[in-house]
Formats: sequence, structure tokens, C-alpha cells
Amino acid sequence: RKSATGQSHAKIIFFGEHSVVYGQPAICLPISKIKTIVSIKGADTGQHVASKYFTGALSEMPDSQTGIQLLINTILVELHQEKTPFTLQVTSEIPAERGMGSSAATAIAIVRAFFHFFHQSLSHAELLRLADVSEQYIHGNPSGLDAATVSSKTPIWFVKGRRPQAIPIKQNAFLVIVDTGIMGQTGLAVQHVKSKLAGDHHAEEDIEMLGKIAKQARSCLANGDSQKLGFLMNDSQTILSKLGVSHPILDQFATLALKNGALGAKLTGGGMGGCLITLTSSKPSAKQIATILEQHGAIHTWIEPLATGYHKG
Ligand code: MEV
Repeated sequence: RKSATGQSHAKIIFFGEHSVVYGQPAICLPISKIKTIVSIKGADTGQHVASKYFTGALSEMPDSQTGIQLLINTILVELHQEKTPFTLQVTSEIPAERGMGSSAATAIAIVRAFFHFFHQSLSHAELLRLADVSEQYIHGNPSGLDAATVSSKTPIWFVKGRRPQAIPIKQNAFLVIVDTGIMGQTGLAVQHVKSKLAGDHHAEEDIEMLGKIAKQARSCLANGDSQKLGFLMNDSQTILSKLGVSHPILDQFATLALKNGALGAKLTGGGMGGCLITLTSSKPSAKQIATILEQHGAIHTWIEPLATGYHKG
């Protein structure tokens, strides 16, 4: 019986969350070791879906899964396979609602799996266009950054509406990704920034400053200046916190990381919960900070080398 798989991975936003919505650049990193895998198997009858959120008929997916249901139906219509029986299984290591791109990764892996299953070629533009069907439904009006990063092998420089650019990273440093265990609230945070911009002209300067920081960070990444990169992370965190999208736990974790030798720390993604990222100069330092944050309530940490893994020069 025929079968096929499609893969994708997690992402983090290094610089530029929120300001990216207003046309400022963002720097995003694929986290390739945290994966989402979708497998599709041919079946005798019916169209079935299985994931940790729902198992059953495609036509009976609950409201929380409408984005995915819409995506699958769109793919089937476009490939003229509306009646083909199959079972689709989603297996994901990416925690949901932590700003790590879990919904985009599921969408990208589903599109890739169906195109393999039906032996169709798929361009990158087409992949992003289809993934946007569920992303639009789930997130309202996303910048597209999530889908672009979870389908990219390299770090990217992302400006809304433009083709993402691969960027070189020449660092000898480590990032610790820290899951606070608190659900991020991207939709609410995006709305919050929007209303802040309507009522407070300082917010506009803050958004511009986040864009400037992203540009400076790009140079630091290219020339290996980890110290300055750390300062830029702290500056971003201060501005994001001022915009109201941080969370007391994120602020507390950032302070703890810095006290224990981190070069910089900031929230990543939509904020109001979710994950913190912190930059360290060595792997032992990364491990030490991860341990301390876990002792203070972080539910998961991942250590990611900045230099190797995604870009080798
Ligand atoms: C969410 O991952 C990033 C935000 O900038 C929203 C978006 O880009 O659509 C907060």
C-alpha cells in the first residue's frame, strides 16, 4: 500500500518579533532537531486524521482543528483527489503555543506529505502559499515568518511580503531555548501592540528601534561579535517588555540568566508567555544556565550551537 512522509522543524525568532508585522526586518532560526513528521498511508475507505489533538474522520475535526481541516481539503481539491481514501498521522516534538512554530510546522509537513503521496512536484512558493491557508485561519493575519522559517534549512532575514534571504552566522556561541510552560498568546499580543500604536506615539519609535536592532544584530552575526549580540538581545527585551508583550516569568528568567553569566536574554515569538532565548559563550555555560532555569520552573530547555548546525560559513 502506498505511503509517504513530509517533515518540518521548529523555529525561533532571534530578533524582530512584533516589529516584523509593521514591515521591519526579523532574524529567524530554524531549529532542525525539533521535528514534526506527517505520514500518509493509503486506505480502503474514508479519510482519517490522527494527532495528539484529534483522531477520527477528516470531516469530523473539532473547531480547534478547522485550520488543518481547511488546509487538507484545499490540497485535496487542488490535486483533484477529493475522494481518495487515506490515513494521515501527525507526530510533533514542537510544543504548541510557545512561539516555536508548531502550527506552521504541521502545515508545512502536511503539504509536503500530500505532494509526495500523490507524486506531485512542489515549489517553495507553492508550499508557502498552501501553508498560509491554515496559518491565516489560525493566526488572523500572520507575517508569514513562521512558515518561511520552519521550511528553511538556513537562518533567514525576513521582511514581510519579500522573499526570505539566507544569512550567514559566524559565531562561536550557544543559545538556550527555555520553555516557561506558560502558553504564549500571539494573537492577543499582536492586538495589544496594535492598540498601543494607535494611542501612544512612543510605540512607533519602539517598533523602529526593534528594526534597527535587527539590522545591527545581522552585522554581529556575520562578524562574530557575541558580546554586542547579547546587548542587542537585552535591548530588544526591554522594548518588548515596554510594549507589554513580556510576562513576569520571562522577565524573571531573563534576569536569572544574566546573573548567571548569559550574554543576553529575550523572549522569542509572540510573547505573553511561551519561550525565552538566552545567549551564552560556551556549552558548559549554556548547560549551567539551562539547569538553573529548570530548577526555577522552566519545563524544558534546548541547547543550540549558533555556529554549526545551520550554517557553516
Ligand atoms: C509570531 O511568531 C511572531 C509575531 O511577530 C507575529 C507575526 O509575525 O505574525 C508576533
